[in-house]
Amino acid sequence: MNTPGFYDGKTVLLTGASTGIGKELAIKLMHTKCKLVLVARRKELISEFVTSQPKRENLIISGCDVSDKEAVSLLLDEVTQKMGQPDIVILNAGVSLGEKYEILDEKATRATMEINFFGVVNFVHPLLQPFRERKSGTFVIVSSLADGRGYPQSAAYSASKAAVSIFAESLAIKTAPLGLKVITVKPGFVKTPMTDKNQFPMPFMISAEKAAEIIFNGIINGKRMIKFPFMTSLLTSLANIAPYKIFAKAVRR
Ligand SMILES: NC(=O)c1ccc[n+]([C@@H]2O[C@H](COP(=O)([O-])OP(=O)(O)OC[C@H]3O[C@@H](n4cnc5c(N)ncnc54)[C@H](OP(=O)(O)O)[C@@H]3O)[C@@H](O)[C@H]2O)c1
Repeated sequence: MNTPGFYDGKTVLLTGASTGIGKELAIKLMHTKCKLVLVARRKELISEFVTSQPKRENLIISGCDVSDKEAVSLLLDEVTQKMGQPDIVILNAGVSLGEKYEILDEKATRATMEINFFGVVNFVHPLLQPFRERKSGTFVIVSSLADGRGYPQSAAYSASKAAVSIFAESLAIKTAPLGLKVITVKPGFVKTPMTDKNQFPMPFMISAEKAAEIIFNGIINGKRMIKFPFMTSLLTSLANIAPYKIFAKAVRR
């Protein structure tokens, strides 16, 4: 099922909209009739691609840092005042600081958790009460297929995504009877500035446009979990149940 007009009239907030998957998703959303809030620290990058799209009303571009709880709270107040409460909140902002820094640098580990995990929590908590009162609202939480094991090149990243996935699952179970929806997105490798810096092999990599299309349609189709691509999903499912020795040997290679 692919409902035309699904996004029309809804207030959609998307974080991590300046590059990669978020940018492509923002462009797709710009072609719907939703009220759109695009968030990233480098808001000038958002403004750049917005000007090359057909002109539209009902657009907020915000330079909010998702790890800054106060800034998120101010942003949500502004959105509610200008566009009404968000209907769909796509929490896509994330960082992967790279193999070189992660394990060695405690600051990088904390920053990864602050953005990838608390950058989700900072939106979920203030919106929970209004969503509960309305008995509707959708959280789309972008995790990763790297959320199930300790990959040696991305200790903090995988730990942050494990936290996000578990948080999203608990939230889904808890809030479904209240009329809320929580969709977890687990991409494999996608070609974006995040992966451009990786030195290791990235099998079955897909484009950011393709990833955005899968997420855009998955939300319309009411999926609870959006995992892609199929082969990476299959291989990570096997990795997730492999005994430690076999897993460690495979990933060391
Ligand atoms: N690419 C992959 O292979 C892959 C695989 C699995 C999961 N994912 C996940 O998909 C999501 C998007 O990643 P991507 O690959 O598209 O990477 P990307 O191109 O690097 O995009 C990351 C986005 O997050 C924003 N961001 C980072 N820190 C932020 C902060 N503190 N506050 C606000 N915005 C912030 C960045 O904007 P600013 O820097 O301008 O703030 C940018 O728009 C991430 O959650 C990532 O973990 C990606």
